[in-house]
Amino acid sequence: MLFIDNEWVDAESGKTFETVSPIDGKADVEKAVAAARRAFHRKSEWRQLTASARGRLLHRFADLIERDGEYLSTLETTDNGMLYAMCRHMIHGAVSTVRYAAGLADKVHGDTIPSDFEGFTYTLRQPVGVCGLILPWNGPIGLFVNKVATALAAGCTMVVKPAEQTPLTALALAALLAEAGVPRGVVNVVNGYGPTAGAALTHHPHVAKVSFTGSLEVGKIIQQAAGASNLKRVTLELGGKSPLVICDDADLNVAVPYAAEGVFTLQGQVCVAASRLFVQSKIYDEFVKRAVEYAKKRKVGNPFTEGNQNGPQVDEEMMNKVLGYIEKGKAEGAKLLTGGQRIGTTGYYLEPTVFADVTDDMTIAKEEIFGPVQSILKFETLDEVIDRANDTNYGLAAGIFTNNVQTALQFSNLVEAGTVWVNNYFTFEPRIPFGGFKDSGIGREKELSVKGYQRHTSTHVGKMSCLNSPTSAAVVGSPFIVDDSGDDSKTVELGKLTVYLRVLGDSVRVLACRFFSHQGGVRPKEDCFCFSLQKEPTLVEW
Ligand code: NAI
Ligand code: MG
Repeated sequence: MLFIDNEWVDAESGKTFETVSPIDGKADVEKAVAAARRAFHRKSEWRQLTASARGRLLHRFADLIERDGEYLSTLETTDNGMLYAMCRHMIHGAVSTVRYAAGLADKVHGDTIPSDFEGFTYTLRQPVGVCGLILPWNGPIGLFVNKVATALAAGCTMVVKPAEQTPLTALALAALLAEAGVPRGVVNVVNGYGPTAGAALTHHPHVAKVSFTGSLEVGKIIQQAAGASNLKRVTLELGGKSPLVICDDADLNVAVPYAAEGVFTLQGQVCVAASRLFVQSKIYDEFVKRAVEYAKKRKVGNPFTEGNQNGPQVDEEMMNKVLGYIEKGKAEGAKLLTGGQRIGTTGYYLEPTVFADVTDDMTIAKEEIFGPVQSILKFETLDEVIDRANDTNYGLAAGIFTNNVQTALQFSNLVEAGTVWVNNYFTFEPRIPFGGFKDSGIGREKELSVKGYQRHTSTHVGKMSCLNSPTSAAVVGSPFIVDDSGDDSKTVELGKLTVYLRVLGDSVRVLACRFFSHQGGVRPKEDCFCFSLQKEPTLVEW
């Protein structure tokens, strides 16, 4: 089932697959992009809306998410396996995100620039066009809302491609957008696989921007597709291998639970997971002991059951990927202290796993595991741990627990990460920019990322007060005589001003002028400045 032009439609191929989505989205992407293009036409209903009207629509969308929070959470837990309690929390976050974007719709605007030339110069912000929004499966509602609400606030139209593992909530949210009053074709959802539906979007010549969250591998493919097609803008959020540093002076009653939640929450399927835990040598043994106790107590089971703290991995493939990393960890000499196994044979549940004595060269310290695996490494000095924390191709997030403000600030300033948390972890807000350094991505989301969905024109407006107005032909500097013996262009030097003009009957048309004080300042002015020729003609002030 797809949602195009505010209607439910079947895939062109007629194909479906078990988990609900159509198999090949290519033809559907064509239809959806065409619908989004129609909706982006300058005379469309959507383009006629004012920015504040777009804001009101988004507020209505937020109201509807609140109304249907229970239903959306049930759908998400069923589709993704994340805890129902967490879904409820995410709905709350989604509503905040939409309301933040709603408020921004009429507050992001261009500038007027104090140009050295006469007249004035301004920038005009306009929506970039049709956007392709490609989502992963680990936070479907949150990511849909974040990308879609921002693009809507900017005035864009869009085609959303959810991950094939979790296609349901995007359809439900698109229906809520239609109910809120978003016109046909503005938000379309095409479910399908990455190499077909996803690639059709990233290669599409009428898609102006792609915003993607997912793997580094696919992020690279998307950037290539953008280059190979129409140089579409690309925003990428590609995960990480985020270091969390626990210093000797940290309060272990706080740091141990934070470190565990930092890597076990959502079964570890989080882009900012604290997957490299550096613990300072003096507290190392005590920390490891407590971390193991904490992991052992964690309740894993049906995500709808209250009290459970971890649900299943999203699918068998991802579960096996995590189990593969656990085997690598053991083989490369890390010390497995708890966990490491699948729980039961139905569902894809994994034991919270703790490895100690992990070293920088081990695979589990280098690659994104995306599972409930805590890898603990030992360090001695701050200087050393900053270098080790930065010794990765990723740079999404980092954290530190310490009671020394100097240590905290030094680490925060020197660690290569888009987000740094001091004595907390996982603090997200719509008003705080989010994105990565290095292989973790390009661009920022949240905060004023609405600007990334807009392009701007710089317009130079010459002074028009003397247009066709003889009375405004006031004198500037010394008068000059125009040789009006022919119809050809004349050049008149007036101090640092050179004027190229043509005499037409009793008026003079300025073709161009140049201020000597500015390099390359010749600007055509044909038809801009006409004024009456006086007996001793003088140049108008302009
Ligand atoms: P993926 O990057 O393959 O999939 C994410 C999205 O990209 C899906 O919608 C998928 O259909 C689409 N996609 C796949 N190939 C594409 C292509 N050629 N062109 C356009 N779109 C394409 O991620 P996957 O395979 O689900 O997970 C693999 C690993 O990626 C995970 O183990 C994890 O390490 C990482 N990941 C990171 C996420 C993050 O939050 N940054 C989210 C999901 C996965
Ligand atoms: Mg993949």
